[in-house]
Amino acid sequence: MKIKMFFAALIIGVVVACGGSAGGESNELGANVFKTHCQLCHGADGKLGLNGAKDFTTSPLSLDERIQVITKGRNTMLAYENTLSPEEIKAVAKYTLTFKGK
Ligand code: HEC
Repeated sequence: MKIKMFFAALIIGVVVACGGSAGGESNELGANVFKTHCQLCHGADGKLGLNGAKDFTTSPLSLDERIQVITKGRNTMLAYENTLSPEEIKAVAKYTLTFKGK
């Protein structure tokens, strides 16, 4: 009986962890942040490249490197550390990865 409870708790824990806003298959947070803050320069398909914004479909940057650029900015790319929370930055960085190869 106790063991069953343990597994039930474990499964609930895993579901909650995966359902978190910054991860999983559907990244609604990332998509919303992108629409609000990034689409203007990067475009809905990630390729707009306004003001020299990089094309996300060909960008070789890893998730961590993207988080770095978004947080601290680079050249004409703005820094978002004071605008977005770390979760929002991570979610939107993941979202930019979904353009890859499109
Ligand atoms: C004002 C226009 C502008 C906005 C808004 C903007 N970017 Fe950028 N972004 C740029 C430019 C320009 C670069 C290229 C910077 C450089 O040349 O170093 C860039 C580069 C990047 C890169 C690095 C890509 C690479 O391959 O080097 C990432 C990741 C990125 N932006 C993500 C975002 C995200 C996420 C947002 C929204 C939170 C955002 N950007 C909003 C202009 C913008």
